[in-house]
Amino acid sequence: MKKLIVLSGAGMSAESGISTFRDSGGLWEKYEIDDVATPNGWRRNPGMVLDFYNQRRRQLLKSKPNAGHFALAELEKEYDVQIITQNVDNLHERAGSTHVVHLHGELMKVRSTGPGEEVFVVPTDKPDVNPGDMCPKGFQLRPHIVWFGEAVPEIEKAEYMTYNADIFLIIGTSMQVYPAAGLIHNVQPGVPIYLIDPHEVNHLSYEITVISKGASEGMKEFVKLIRALEVKL
Ligand code: OAD
Repeated sequence: MKKLIVLSGAGMSAESGISTFRDSGGLWEKYEIDDVATPNGWRRNPGMVLDFYNQRRRQLLKSKPNAGHFALAELEKEYDVQIITQNVDNLHERAGSTHVVHLHGELMKVRSTGPGEEVFVVPTDKPDVNPGDMCPKGFQLRPHIVWFGEAVPEIEKAEYMTYNADIFLIIGTSMQVYPAAGLIHNVQPGVPIYLIDPHEVNHLSYEITVISKGASEGMKEFVKLIRALEVKL
């Protein structure tokens, strides 16, 4: 099976009702990145950070995968689909995708701030994490999120996946955050690259087939295009 490698971002989940970051009305208009998505913000005010992610978690629990997520899961019948997502939601998995790497962590997990940084699943019936919520060894729990300024532990795996792509699809990301945005440089010459986004994503000097649509409609068009590509090959 051909390897279809996907880099997804917040726009993938926009039609599921999850806020993006940099669109107008996005999260970074309402919050300062430094307050809620950096180790400094955590040190200054852990309660504010926990509250921010509690809100994100509650929003996620009310959301469902959209047709774009389902279309990617469905493509596993024809392709070896491997998803690199910047999203911390679990909508790819809930749609049925089986190979998902979360570059920026996962909302439904927390981890210990103590040695070993043990990771725990957040129960869906008690999704809030508060100051004073400890791991069994007595250390405060923090969101299992990669904040700005922190290492991205999954990046090497993602680079390797991208390097081996037969087809590369970028969907719903403004391509402004590194190292995720730099993954495209690992795509080998001659590998077709597609981009689904309803707005202009400016950046890339690569030859890219742009599908200027939202995730659900864009995925329909993408499927048609790769089927046509198969016929040509
Ligand atoms: P952004 O909010 O920067 O970009 C979202 C992209 O989705 C934009 O290019 C939109 O045009 C596009 N979009 C909007 N609606 C869409 C739809 N219905 N279908 C498809 N695309 C749509 O989000 P990311 O690029 O994911 O990191 O942001 C990258 C990282 O920055 C995030 O993982 C997060 C953030 O700060 C951390 O918090 C560590």
